[in-house]
Amino acid sequence: MNTSPACSVVTDYTRDGWTAADRSRDWCTELESGKMLLFDGVPFDLPAADRDFLLSQKQTESRLHKNISYRPEKNLLRGIAGDSPDRERMQQVMGHYSKQVVSFLMSFLAPYARDFKLDYASFRPLEEKSRDLVLHKRNDLLHVDAFPTRPTRGARILRVFTNINPTVDRVWTTGEPFHVMAPKLADSAGLLRFANPSVAERAVFAAQRAGHVVGLPVPNRSRYDRFMLHFHDWLKENVAFQSNSPKVRTDFSPGCTWLVFTDGVPHAVLSGQYVLEQTFIIPQRALVAPERSPLQVLETIANTSLAS
Ligand code: SIN
Ligand code: FE
Repeated sequence: MNTSPACSVVTDYTRDGWTAADRSRDWCTELESGKMLLFDGVPFDLPAADRDFLLSQKQTESRLHKNISYRPEKNLLRGIAGDSPDRERMQQVMGHYSKQVVSFLMSFLAPYARDFKLDYASFRPLEEKSRDLVLHKRNDLLHVDAFPTRPTRGARILRVFTNINPTVDRVWTTGEPFHVMAPKLADSAGLLRFANPSVAERAVFAAQRAGHVVGLPVPNRSRYDRFMLHFHDWLKENVAFQSNSPKVRTDFSPGCTWLVFTDGVPHAVLSGQYVLEQTFIIPQRALVAPERSPLQVLETIANTSLAS
C-alpha cells in the first residue's frame, strides 16, 4: 500500500461501485484541497488485451511521436502515423478507455457528473527520465498545468492517470497545494500586473476576443488564463522554488490509478514509462470547495475578478 503523504488511498470504491456509504462529496473536497486520490488497481474496465496492445507499441517506437492524444468528442487520434497498421486498434483502445474513465468519474465523483467538459486523453509511451526537452516543456520540474490552446477561464483541470507499466513505478514529486503556495508566490510572480492590465494590453485582449468570436484561431484567454500560463513557466524557471519549496515523492506502482487537480498541485514526473491519462475540465459551479480553486485563491490575493 502506498503511504505517500500526498495521497489518500481509496478503499471504499471499486469497479463495482461503493463498498460502503457513498462518500463522493468528501473525496471531491480532498481532491479540490490538493490531495491526490490513489487506487491500488484500476477502478474501471481496462482489458488486459488493450493494455498489452499499448505496451507492445514499444516495438514500433519509430512510429511513435512523444504522446498519443485522443479527443473523445471527435474520436480523433493524434501522434500515430496515418498509415500505421495499428491506428484503428489504437483508436478503439483509446475510445474504450476514455468511455470507461468517464463512467467511473460520474459515479465516483458524483458532484461533477452533470457538469464537466471532457478534454483529451493521452497515452505516454516514452521513458520520462532524462528526456531532452526545452525548459518550459520539461515535466521533471515542478509546475501547475495550464493549456495554451484551451483556456479554462477558471474551470479546473482534473486528471486521471493509470500506470500501465507491468513492472516499473512512475515517480512524481508534488509540492504544497495552491491555496498554500500561491499566497507566498503570486505577488513575486507578477499577479498584480496580470490582474490590472494596461490600456494598451486591454486593447490587444479586446482584439483577440473579437478575433475569437468571428472564428479566428486565437484562444479567448481571461486574466486568469494568462496568469496561469505565465505561472507555469515562472515556476519552472524559479531555481529557488524548484530546490527549496516543500515537496514529497510518490512512487506510483504498476497498475495503480490516481486522480489529481493538476492546476492546483505542483507536480513533476521524474521517471516511469507507459501511463494512460484522461483530462476533465470541472467548472466553478460544480466544485464543492470553490474557495480552494486557483481562480478564487488568486482573486482573493489580487482583490479583483480575474475571470474575464
Ligand atoms: C504532467 O502533467 O506534468 C505529466 C505527468 C505524467 O505524465 O506523469
Ligand atoms: Fe503537468
